[in-house]
Amino acid sequence: MVYCKVAVLIFCVSSFFVPTEEICKDESSCVERKTHGLWSADCYNRNIREFPSCLRSDVKVIDLSYNRLRKITREDLSKYTNLQFLYLSDNLLSRLEDSTFQDMDILISLDLSLNDISALPPDIFQLPSLKKLYLGQNPNMNIIESIKKASPISSPLEAIDISFNGLKTLPNLGIMPHLLLYNITGNKAINMKVEDIAGLCNLKTLVNNFTTVHFDNPCDCWNIQSWLQERKVNFAKMTCEIQEQDCPYNIPKEDMQLYQECKSKQSELKTKSLFMKIGIPVAVVAVVLSLLLIYFLYKRRKQRRLRLENNDSQNHVIGGRVEDDCLL
Ligand SMILES: *[C@@H]1O[C@H](CO)[C@@H](O)[C@H](O)[C@H]1NC(C)=O
Ligand SMILES: *[C@@H]1O[C@H](CO)[C@@H](O)[C@H](O)[C@H]1NC(C)=O
Repeated sequence: MVYCKVAVLIFCVSSFFVPTEEICKDESSCVERKTHGLWSADCYNRNIREFPSCLRSDVKVIDLSYNRLRKITREDLSKYTNLQFLYLSDNLLSRLEDSTFQDMDILISLDLSLNDISALPPDIFQLPSLKKLYLGQNPNMNIIESIKKASPISSPLEAIDISFNGLKTLPNLGIMPHLLLYNITGNKAINMKVEDIAGLCNLKTLVNNFTTVHFDNPCDCWNIQSWLQERKVNFAKMTCEIQEQDCPYNIPKEDMQLYQECKSKQSELKTKSLFMKIGIPVAVVAVVLSLLLIYFLYKRRKQRRLRLENNDSQNHVIGGRVEDDCLL
């Protein structure tokens, strides 16, 4: 009877494992190693056509750049929810399902540049840990519509690259208090408004060389440059078709408001992180100290009671009254 059960168990376990091993056979081409303390899979330039399914599940970095991937799905990624860095540059990706990156809660960096992606999942802009997003050189990308659907963007993005995407206008990013780097280079004839950058109150670099910019209001050429200069943003000088003295510096009220909103969001975030850094340790220390104090008081009271009880047994005359008073 027992033997029979063991045999069934072995059969079940082995039939569970064998198929997975079979699927994994053809994927020895990625090299897995620990770099900077993180498990990384180096699959660069290996003529890969399918997303690898047998990498170790605690892998943090997957570099699949320069391969022949045509698609990637939520199922492909479902085993790798520990992933922090995913490089898919220079593949043949075109359509991505909206749910593709939905489970990637700790993804920090995503490189989709040099593909032919037309449908970019709006969910990317809601990923809670995403800091770097490379979307350059996807000439048919629906980036403006995708961002519109995602709005407001909630990912803590610090760098966005939309270079060489053939854009004629910039996407409406709204308020992005984390954004430091905005790469719009190589978009040949782009139309720009103050509004496009007003909500980027933390911006340090606008990569705009190799770009020709047009303005509905010709004075915006000066307005935008003064705005950027005032905020010490690095950018390439733009040639204006109108003289600067003909353009009094003028930023529309709504754009100032957008900037102010970004600023207050930024200070809110700073307060929050300060609280996490200082507030929580202080609270823990306070709790520990109060527990110690309570313990100390309890002990002293107990000692006093013992002493009184001793006195009591020696001298019955003092009675319970004094004891009661002392304990209160
Ligand atoms: C901006 O994008 C271009 C083209 O993709 C790239 O060569 C350049 O290094 C990027 N600049 C920065 C500062 O990231
Ligand atoms: C843009 O300028 C930077 C230096 O400011 C340079 O390194 C980069 O190659 C330039 N990019 C293009 C596309 O011209």
